[in-house]
Amino acid sequence: MTRLVVLGGGRMGAALVSGLLSSGWAPAGELGVVEPVAARRDELEAMFPGVAVAADVTAGAEGAVVAVKPGDVEAACRALAGAGVDRVLSIAAGVPLAKLESWLNAGAAVVRAMPNTPALLGCGAAAIAAGAAASDADLAWAEEILAAVGTVERVGEKLLDAVTGLSGSGPAYVFLVAEALIEAGVAAGLPRTVSETLTIQTLLGSARLLAESGDRPEVLRAAVTSPGGTTAAGLAALEAKAVRSAFMEAVLAATQRSKELGRG
Ligand SMILES: NC(=O)c1ccc[n+]([C@@H]2O[C@H](COP(=O)([O-])OP(=O)(O)OC[C@H]3O[C@@H](n4cnc5c(N)ncnc54)[C@H](OP(=O)(O)O)[C@@H]3O)[C@@H](O)[C@H]2O)c1
Repeated sequence: MTRLVVLGGGRMGAALVSGLLSSGWAPAGELGVVEPVAARRDELEAMFPGVAVAADVTAGAEGAVVAVKPGDVEAACRALAGAGVDRVLSIAAGVPLAKLESWLNAGAAVVRAMPNTPALLGCGAAAIAAGAAASDADLAWAEEILAAVGTVERVGEKLLDAVTGLSGSGPAYVFLVAEALIEAGVAAGLPRTVSETLTIQTLLGSARLLAESGDRPEVLRAAVTSPGGTTAAGLAALEAKAVRSAFMEAVLAATQRSKELGRG
């Protein structure tokens, strides 16, 4: 019996299978991957012994994840409809629930998710939205699958554009900050490798402090900002360049762009 078939054995599909196996969600024998490229199928078979890797969807899976590129989603959904798979989680960016539902069998339970790239390491941040026929049990099912690669929030579909603007595009904002800090360290006289190591560990350590201390960011920031000190001088320079409002504009612009792409 196939409990779950993942359509698309690309980066996200493989990350999901890896997370589902290591979290114990299902044994290898209950998972399947559908991947059109023969060379990639060989890689997937080597990566996941016991997982059924096939070129086409076959009947009999209890549920499916659509993890193909947005342009291939229609074909993937139609193949699922033909195979009688009526419980589907789509992680394809920008493909609305109404379209997914129109390509699947009438009454299929569909959940749409917006994950982000740290899911590749099991550290993703995703949000999910339920389609018209998706019950609470279907949402819980989708949540369990994505929980294997990170955290999951439930939102209405309308908010998925904001999720895209914040956490979907978010890793790119953080990478830009990392690039800037590394260059700044070099400008201040540090050897490049030292600047890189210190920057990456500062981002990692700060994120962990934020996640694990239970303190709000403003509290943690105040704790390292002594009056008239070095951090106060650095923060004043950032505020003078309106960095806070630049981030706000970035998230709003990405949200807007996601809305436009969804309409197109
Ligand atoms: N990467 C991310 O962090 C991220 C974040 C949010 C959302 N997403 C979404 O997740 C989806 C997958 O992204 P990805 O980065 O994993 O892409 P990817 O690495 O390109 O993987 C897509 C895979 O699906 C295969 N495929 C194409 N058509 C298929 C079909 N009809 N049936 C079965 N498999 C098929 C592709 O083969 P070919 O190479 O031959 O096309 C490829 O192996 C995309 O829709 C993307 O928008 C990704």
